[in-house]
Amino acid sequence: MKILVTGGAGFIGSNFINYWLEKYSNDKIINLDILTYAGNLDNLKTIESNPNYTFVKGDICDERLVNELVKNIDLIVHFAAESHVDRSVVSCEDFIRTNVNGTRVLLDAAKNNKGIRFHHISTDEVFGSLGFSDPKFNEFTPYNPKSPYSASKAASDHLVRAYFHTHKLPITISNCSNNYGEYQFPEKLIPLFVTNLLEGKKIPLYGDGKNVRDWIYVGDHNRGVDCVIRKGRIGETYCLGGGNELSNSEITSIILNLLGFGEEMIEYVSDRPGHDLRYAIDITKVERDLNWYPEVDFDAGIKHTINWYKNNKEWWQKIKSGEYRNYYRRQYGT
Ligand code: NAD
Ligand code: DAU
Repeated sequence: MKILVTGGAGFIGSNFINYWLEKYSNDKIINLDILTYAGNLDNLKTIESNPNYTFVKGDICDERLVNELVKNIDLIVHFAAESHVDRSVVSCEDFIRTNVNGTRVLLDAAKNNKGIRFHHISTDEVFGSLGFSDPKFNEFTPYNPKSPYSASKAASDHLVRAYFHTHKLPITISNCSNNYGEYQFPEKLIPLFVTNLLEGKKIPLYGDGKNVRDWIYVGDHNRGVDCVIRKGRIGETYCLGGGNELSNSEITSIILNLLGFGEEMIEYVSDRPGHDLRYAIDITKVERDLNWYPEVDFDAGIKHTINWYKNNKEWWQKIKSGEYRNYYRRQYGT
């Protein structure tokens, strides 16, 4: 099979390519990534000389390039996106451009070159925010996105479904909860807190720390995407979640304990505007129809992840000390 992966130099996409080429070593992957601040070819060092892997630096919004690349492709797995909620609060222009128009460009290219299967990677944030005692999100939950990021992802999901209904494009969608693991850019909660502590710096907890997320190890997410690609029904959506609901305060305590620090390292900072209270995924459909469930429990996954950041300091120090450091200074005063 010949696959076009978009955003394969980012956190989940690079883990996906590493996973896929190890499992399906005869498949060929083209990785199309523009290398924004979040794209990092260091994530793909182990496969960069694999003859079945090709990297193309380019924009998913570039119709000419995308049309060229999809020739002879069997499957598009679409990860590329602007992915950080806080950045979408500051400005959502790039989010609309990449997440909405970029998805449209890929859909048109798939539509115009018959026989291409399209798998769209989406998020549980499209469903909005749950109260503490609300039932979890599932495939029937109405869309109610609350941040510019999630609104852009919701728009892309609707477009993908519209191309299925209107043009009979063979699509599937997966909506996943919060991922953690190796190669996650240190702007997201877990890698930011772990790397700050490894540098002896404080960790910025938003608001009262009571917001809840449903954490999934990135390898479990990618196994889920694999199951949906191989066994999912065309036109359908699948919700993937980790079954690990934790408040930000709980996660913070776990990380502090594992790294041997006390609560004095927490800096309570102003809350994210419009901060969604709780996300949680009901995985009944994927368990029943695809026999998928998360295998990595949070205890083991977070220990593994912290060890990875401890053992791969060059990876994140290069990011934090490079041109990106001005962002950290502005954002966190460090
Ligand atoms: P990321 O920010 O780490 O990586 C995004 C990648 O997309 C980067 O390599 C970037 O260079 C690339 N990219 C951005 N704009 C592009 C463009 N115009 N053309 C080509 N490449 C471009 O993101 P991530 O956390 O790996 O998320 C990947 C996907 O998974 C996104 O679609 C996101 O919405 C979704 N998702 C993420 C999570 C999570 O917890 N991180 C959970 C559920 C769903
Ligand atoms: O739910 C899936 C989503 O998870 C993905 O679609 C997004 O791409 C991904 O970024 C993630 O979104 P969140 O906003 O939930 O992740 P983030 O790591 O930014 O924040 C997790 C929680 O931690 C959230 O409640 C905000 C809080 N937080 C975050 C940061 C960066 C803090 O308290 N302090 C921080 O410095």
